[in-house]
Amino acid sequence: NTYEIAAIPGDGIGVDVTVEARKVLDRAAELFDFRLQWTEFDWSCERYTQTGRMMPEDGIDQLARFDGILLGAVGFPGVPDHVSLWGLLIPVRRAFAQYVNLRPVRLLPGTTSVLSGRGADELEMVIVRENSEGEYSAIGGRHNTGQPSEFVLQESVFTRVGVERIIRYAFELARTRGGRVCSATKSNGLIHSMPYWDEIFAEVAAEYPEVHSEQCHVDALAARMVQHPDRLDVVVASNLFGDILSDLAAAVTGGLGMAPSGNINPPGEHPSMFEAVHGSAPDIAGKGIANPVAQVLAAAMMLEHLGETVAAQAVNAAVEKVLAEGAVATPDLGGTSTTEELGSAITEALRAG
Ligand code: NAI
Ligand code: MG
Repeated sequence: NTYEIAAIPGDGIGVDVTVEARKVLDRAAELFDFRLQWTEFDWSCERYTQTGRMMPEDGIDQLARFDGILLGAVGFPGVPDHVSLWGLLIPVRRAFAQYVNLRPVRLLPGTTSVLSGRGADELEMVIVRENSEGEYSAIGGRHNTGQPSEFVLQESVFTRVGVERIIRYAFELARTRGGRVCSATKSNGLIHSMPYWDEIFAEVAAEYPEVHSEQCHVDALAARMVQHPDRLDVVVASNLFGDILSDLAAAVTGGLGMAPSGNINPPGEHPSMFEAVHGSAPDIAGKGIANPVAQVLAAAMMLEHLGETVAAQAVNAAVEKVLAEGAVATPDLGGTSTTEELGSAITEALRAG
């Protein structure tokens, strides 16, 4: 099999970690007998400062033919964050109906959680974040500007199709894991959107009597994630709640340097996009010390999505082996190794069978 992959390294450490992820995947392709045909795009905030655009006008059309997209991270000092989000990430997610943002969270070997001893050692959960609508909406605006009565409106959009499909995805996933589904809500404060979300959740839950389901206010859920993360399995949440919960979940386990994510179009009609949860990290950009693990695990999720399940498992195993040994570790893991050294160690640890 040959797969056409678009690589968008982006800005800052996105570039460093994408180089390493490609190195690991190229070795996996050799070992597991498939081909990866890479095309690299320089779409980034740096490009924006030169051209006024994150990507060309026909950017979406250019991406449409690929089997997968591997994205580094975008964000550059001096460029407002909404530019990178609305100029690249959100258009790609929406044009390709990548309505699932899948963020698996687990404690990897050789790493310690800030929650050590409180159930974090057995922690293995997955956040299913709605990725196409909800609170991330451009509808609204500023009114009575400059007057004492000035106000802004920021609308949310929850469609029946959008809410139902993300909740159904969570239940299907829980069924394959033999797990449970917890829905993040806030129907006491948001009196239109969240009761609607709850109603559809209850409807879909009724179709899956074998899957344990519950609803939890997002504030209480955040506390529970810190106090009893082992009691959570699949967490389904709206765009905003899922964004916040997944950074929290990443932080209570191995940290942002270890958390992968996939923007997935489940029917596979359009390309899906895989990226680390973290951003471009300007504070460590250019130093060659970013942890490449999150991006390597995101690349493994891409292999899994493409159907190269055995290769994906081998990449995960190689990461675990290197982390468990602990000899090669970047500063965030308490070591002194470089991005390149950790990427190479993972590449060398890759084994077929
Ligand atoms: P960030 O994730 O870039 O950094 C937060 C902290 O975690 C920093 O101290 C950073 O050094 C550390 N960190 C992150 N990834 C790491 C890694 N792989 N290894 C070691 N340490 C790591 O988040 P921040 O600082 O809020 O955002 C920086 C820029 O990234 C902003 O412009 C933001 O908009 C952008 N961003 C882009 C995302 C994307 O492309 N999907 C996602 C999140 C942020
Ligand atoms: Mg985020």
